[in-house]
Amino acid sequence: MSGSVRVVEVGPRDGLQNEKISLPVEVKVEFIRRLAAAKLRTIEAGSFVSPKRVPQMADTAEVLRRLQADAAVRYPVLVPNTKGMEDALAAGAGEVAVFASASETFSRKNIGCSIAESIERFRPVLELAKARSIAVRGYVSCVLGCPYEGQIAAAAVGSVSRQLVELGCYEIALSDTIGIGTPRQARDVVRAVADEIGIGMLAVHFHDTRGQALANILACLEEGVAVVDSAVAGLGGCPYAPGASGNVSTEDLVFMLEGMGVSTGVNLGLAVEAGRFISAHLGRGSGSKVAQAMVSHGDPRQAM
Ligand code: HMG
Ligand code: MG
Repeated sequence: MSGSVRVVEVGPRDGLQNEKISLPVEVKVEFIRRLAAAKLRTIEAGSFVSPKRVPQMADTAEVLRRLQADAAVRYPVLVPNTKGMEDALAAGAGEVAVFASASETFSRKNIGCSIAESIERFRPVLELAKARSIAVRGYVSCVLGCPYEGQIAAAAVGSVSRQLVELGCYEIALSDTIGIGTPRQARDVVRAVADEIGIGMLAVHFHDTRGQALANILACLEEGVAVVDSAVAGLGGCPYAPGASGNVSTEDLVFMLEGMGVSTGVNLGLAVEAGRFISAHLGRGSGSKVAQAMVSHGDPRQAM
């Protein structure tokens, strides 16, 4: 297992895209500032998608404009097509992510086109990015199951991942969109995709709908994965994936990794604070077990 893991914080995007209320720009910017203060070095800041489909992300350009430039922090944004890419560039985005699916039905529900069409839509996005030296990450949804199709073949996941790498994505985030997978399955899919594109290209993005995310992450870390997505307070979900709930929480992930001697660089106390801040604005408690325990019992690690 790697001695360090890069944590990709997706709370401001995956977390807030699925909330009933749209938070004001000032709150989003303060949330992201607090995440950066917790030493999260990659913070997905929003998305350039149809405001009719995901109104919660409609102000992403304004969020990006208000963020303080910081050479140490990356603020990627999601883009589904050339329009999204042009808008992201105009707003000063320094990194973007395209998002495909291993399930045909989810692809159509989420982005209105087939998997093959999505790859063709991403091609000019990657060309624009290359011309501007902008890094592009690729997501593959439904790698451990689909809310519409059920089981998804590992070969389908490998095929989409390889096509995204061929387009120029520097990393593929294998995503359990609805938190349906279990550890042996997660490990097998990672192995199958690593055979296609190499383990060093892989990140995992696991929703925690059924409480399996940490176990699945651990299984993938044992395979050599060293990049993990998470969201403080366990925020998250996808409006086009019925039954999807929050991502694995950043606080729980960091607690597990640091406890195993795997360094993340993240300040757990400040990550808990950032989670509390955003949960208060959403009018509910944190979904992170570690954050809940620290409220009730403090941080006993100080005494260890
Ligand atoms: P479409 O509806 O399929 O068709 O859009 P369209 O291309 O004809 O566009 C329809 C309207 O959207 C038009 O406006 C376009 O101008 C506009 P109208 O004429 O109706 O006024 N439009 C745009 N507006 C703003 N930004 C754009 C853009 N493109 C077109 N970039 C589209 C296709 C992909 C845009 C649409 O289906 C969409 O926005 N879908 C939302 C997808 C989304 O954000 N899903 C959640 C994020 S993915 C996720 O959460 C999974 C992930 O976390 C990994 C995991 O957990 O699995 C990443
Ligand atoms: Mg997600």
